[in-house]
Amino acid sequence: MKIIVTGGAGFIGGNFVHYMLKRYEEYEIICLDKLTYAGNMETLESVINNPRFKFYKADIAEKEVISEIFYKEKPNIIVNFAAESHVDRSIENPSVFLQTNVMGTQVLLDACRKHGIDRYHQVSTDEVYGDLPLDKPDLFFTEETPLNASSPYSASKAGADMLVQAYHRTFGLPVTISRCSNNYGPYHFPEKLIPLMIANVLYNKPLPVYGTGENVRDWLYVEDHCSAIDLIIHKGRLGEIYNIGGHNEKTNLEVVQTIIRELGNGKIEYVKDRAGHDMRYAIDSAKIHNDLGWFPITKFEDGIKMTIQWYLDNKSWWENIISGEYQNYYAKMYDKR
Ligand code: NAD
Ligand code: TYD
Repeated sequence: MKIIVTGGAGFIGGNFVHYMLKRYEEYEIICLDKLTYAGNMETLESVINNPRFKFYKADIAEKEVISEIFYKEKPNIIVNFAAESHVDRSIENPSVFLQTNVMGTQVLLDACRKHGIDRYHQVSTDEVYGDLPLDKPDLFFTEETPLNASSPYSASKAGADMLVQAYHRTFGLPVTISRCSNNYGPYHFPEKLIPLMIANVLYNKPLPVYGTGENVRDWLYVEDHCSAIDLIIHKGRLGEIYNIGGHNEKTNLEVVQTIIRELGNGKIEYVKDRAGHDMRYAIDSAKIHNDLGWFPITKFEDGIKMTIQWYLDNKSWWENIISGEYQNYYAKMYDKR
């Protein structure tokens, strides 16, 4: 079995590469990543010399390059994690989101048609459904919830999902899609809420909470996301969408306060809200549970402790990131916010 993992130098793709190499002793994993600001070869350091692992620096939106790699590697399965993934950056500059998330997906789908594969799996997000109100806690996203994206990021992911479905219906391409809630865990880029707050506490910087901090996210430990995708690519029904979520809703304030408690200090600073800020995400994952037997293993109380410990133990991984171009990003987004 040969699997192409796109975006494998990023947060979830990197965790998936480690997960699959460990779990399946016969599988070959081909990682294909453009190494944008979010891609980091240090995430793949421990597998780079594994004979069952290969890395290509490549842009999923470059048709000829992708076609050549497919021709050479003849993969069975494609799992597409590659994306521009940060909502705040999509508000600053939407065009690269459309280029990678939509056009890149189309290039991969065309390569799959041309070269023939057993399955293409699209890693999508619950953000394609838009948001839920805070005062209706019994409402959840199901796979039938209409797409209603709020940000340029989620709109680009929704566009990609529709393309994937269109290639299934029109060309009979064997596809599956998963839509997951917010992940956390090792190798998470420090622009996102949890690692940003951990890094700021450790650097004695204020903790910037957008708006009132009442926005709710459904947090899932990244390894549980990997196990769900593993199940879907082996047993998921072709043409189907599967929601993946932790039933672990927390307000942003609750998350930040947990980090402050665990690390023993940290000072919250309320800052200007994100434009179009989604209020609440909450996933109904009954389908993947009933059809494939998936359920999350890691409780938030344990997962957040393991995550904080990982950032304490792997300071060089994230300090290398925040010492470079990230400084400019941070100044632009947070100074005088
Ligand atoms: P990330 O930003 O950490 O990593 C993205 C990776 O894709 C990076 O390694 C980057 O270099 C690579 N990449 C970007 N553009 C590329 C291109 N044109 N060609 C090849 N590689 C490219 O993102 P993540 O948080 O790991 O998210 C991975 C996927 O999971 C995304 O598709 C995202 O929409 C989805 N997702 C993320 C979350 C979450 O909480 N992080 C939740 C649900 C779904
Ligand atoms: P984020 O990690 O960017 O994920 P997403 O926007 O995809 O859910 O943000 C999670 C939540 O945390 C979101 O409601 C925005 C909020 N947030 C802050 O309050 N402060 C921050 O500095 C960041 C990065 C996010």
